[in-house]
Amino acid sequence: MMAIHGRYALSSIALATAFMAVGSFGSALAGPRESSGGVQAKIEYCETCHGASGQGFYGYYAIPRLAGQQTGYIEDQLRDFSHGERHTPIMGPVARSVSPSEYSAIAAHFHAMNSAPLGGGSGGNVALGRDIFMNGIPESNVPACWACHGQDAHGAREIPRLAGQLPSYLIKTLSNWYEQRGTKSAHGLSAIMVPTTHNLTRAQMAAVAAYVSGLR
Ligand code: HEC
Ligand code: HEC
Repeated sequence: MMAIHGRYALSSIALATAFMAVGSFGSALAGPRESSGGVQAKIEYCETCHGASGQGFYGYYAIPRLAGQQTGYIEDQLRDFSHGERHTPIMGPVARSVSPSEYSAIAAHFHAMNSAPLGGGSGGNVALGRDIFMNGIPESNVPACWACHGQDAHGAREIPRLAGQLPSYLIKTLSNWYEQRGTKSAHGLSAIMVPTTHNLTRAQMAAVAAYVSGLR
């Protein structure tokens, strides 16, 4: 329910902003060639939504944290957004305004940021969330999250960092996984999370979001 509501909410307000911003990019891109100034301008554009320290932003809608995010993951998502393999009304046009040759510089910029978690609360039980993260839920076939995302939830390469991520973004992402990412990311990695997202209850998602969102 919330995911559907979120989608429609996005298309009304934020989409207009996205198109306006993409439009102004278009003219910047019409210049003679890409320069480091071009990359810098795009980073500033990203920060208008993702926060000046990449810490994420709570507007009408939670915009995810990019600070400390793994470079391989950021690059994969930009590719998936621009090819329409991860469906979102906002990031599709945004990603298509970035040249693949700029992905690594932009990803490195956000990876190097180390801002404090924004918090915000998920209404979930932190102790239960920690237990799921460390041990999984064997009776529901939910694996221990740390096995891929790392003990500190920092991720690695194409596996995302979850530490410090906005809790409402995490819940929305887990509850809307199949609709948004299906099973066909650039490297087929989105498929890995499909069974887990089906097997977690809403309360378990909120619990794990409460735990990881507080980690640095
Ligand atoms: C107009 C606002 C806006 C702008 C500008 C914007 N983003 Fe986003 N971005 C979003 C929203 C909203 C999402 C969440 C999409 C979703 O999951 O529904 C997102 C998601 C992402 C994700 C996925 C994060 C994750 O944890 O999976 C990445 C990576 C990303 N953006 C990178 C960028 C980069 C790089 C730029 C600049 C070139 C940028 N964004 C500019 C709004 C924006
Ligand atoms: C077998 C490895 C593996 C396990 C175990 C695993 N994940 Fe993941 N997870 C991934 C991969 C790979 C991705 C990136 C998928 C993509 O590129 O679309 C991911 C993505 C995610 C995302 C999206 C992050 C973002 O910024 O949008 C969330 C949230 C997540 N996992 C939560 C969990 C939770 C909670 C658990 C434990 C219950 C878990 N994962 C267990 C491999 C795993």
